[in-house]
Amino acid sequence: MADETLTIRDNRSGEEVEIPISDGTIRATDLRKLGLTSYDPAFLNTASTRSGITYIDGDAGILRYRGYPIEQLAEHASFLETAWLLFEGELPTREELEAWEEEVRVHTYVHTNVTQFLDGFRHDAHPMGMLLGAVAALSTFYPDAKEIGDVESRRLQRLRLIAKFPTIAAWVFRHSRGLPYVFPRNDLDYIGNFVNMTFEIGGRHEPNPVLQRALEILLVLHADHEQNASTNAVRGVGSTQVDPFSAVSAGIAALYGPLHGGANEAVLRMLDEIGTADRVPQFIESVKAGDGRLMGFGHRVYKSYDPRAKLIKRVADDVFAQTGLNPKLEIALELERIALEDDYFVSRKLYPNVDFYSGLIYQAMGYPTDYFTVLFALGRLPGWLAQWEEMLSDPEQKIARPRQIYTGYDERDFVPLAQR
Ligand code: CMC
Repeated sequence: MADETLTIRDNRSGEEVEIPISDGTIRATDLRKLGLTSYDPAFLNTASTRSGITYIDGDAGILRYRGYPIEQLAEHASFLETAWLLFEGELPTREELEAWEEEVRVHTYVHTNVTQFLDGFRHDAHPMGMLLGAVAALSTFYPDAKEIGDVESRRLQRLRLIAKFPTIAAWVFRHSRGLPYVFPRNDLDYIGNFVNMTFEIGGRHEPNPVLQRALEILLVLHADHEQNASTNAVRGVGSTQVDPFSAVSAGIAALYGPLHGGANEAVLRMLDEIGTADRVPQFIESVKAGDGRLMGFGHRVYKSYDPRAKLIKRVADDVFAQTGLNPKLEIALELERIALEDDYFVSRKLYPNVDFYSGLIYQAMGYPTDYFTVLFALGRLPGWLAQWEEMLSDPEQKIARPRQIYTGYDERDFVPLAQR
């Protein structure tokens, strides 16, 4: 077998270097031997880390957490079980799971001062803006969170974040609706408690187990996705050794964008704009002509059907059987049918992604459009935290600080104001 090396010849000087290849990868720092830097805007072909958490094969449409296929986790695992798997690397035993659920339960309360600054937001504040502000502010309530070198402190902060995030997410929802905040009920499970805190009115809420399980599956499907934009933000900000509340709020900010988690909201707005299924061909033509994108389609890594989108379509059947059909589903199905036959989308390998159908389900469950990305954030939280932990335990990681190719002026003399 040939040596696992790459020989690079610099044709300007004739100089040659041999650099190692490992895991199908070369180290960008080895290029320094030739005085070169690699240039990769938007990280199209750069691995920023080694990771043992999530495996994706984008061509084959495969997604696994810690080796377990997403299809099996969606069918059998609870959200907290999945979070444990992401953190610990193994599925919990029954005792471990029960102890973990109990630990989470006793940390669900948030300092009531948080309600005061939520009250300070305008009634129409975007839920993601409120969420990212509130989560960042939690760092001020837990100054011990900056002890990021202490394994036990890191574990405690992860626990606090997992336990308190549904409470804050639910309060953000209540604020948008002008409803009083509902406090956690520790006799309920994780999903049941979150749904109760969002929808309870006058002390009453009739839980729907089918919708709750559907929400739980959606959260499991969102729990991690290796080095996506928001995880990269959490790792990048976390690499400065800031506390995890601040690092996670950076992840929330990245997720907010319409090309990332904000796409589920954008899909619903797009379906509203299209209006009726007969206008789909016209809309597809406008996208092909460069007028906007087909939101919920395409992915940096998946070049075949996103496996999460396949599973979400199945969840949609269960949900719509309970809630009645969402009329926008017809438009979405027609968009998918036409796009999957159209050479523009086929040749670019653009398939429905996780966000294409999730918004329709969230809407059927009663969540307003601008709240969808909050649900994505709730799902992605365990992934952010597992990746943050992995980054801090990785001796190869340092502060994330890319290089640049400077394209500005050479040195020039300052011109006094009067002479400009
Ligand atoms: N509609 C129309 N054309 C598209 C789309 C789309 N949704 N996505 C990509 N293209 C075209 C793009 O114009 C380009 O064409 P050309 O080669 O002629 O210039 C080609 O496909 C490659 O696109 P790209 O922008 O280079 O691909 P990327 O890997 O940088 O972007 C993406 C990936 C997800 C940002 C992009 O596909 C997109 O904007 N999709 C719509 C937004 C969306 O659904 N985002 C959710 C992603 S999944 C969940 C998540 O990450 O949160």
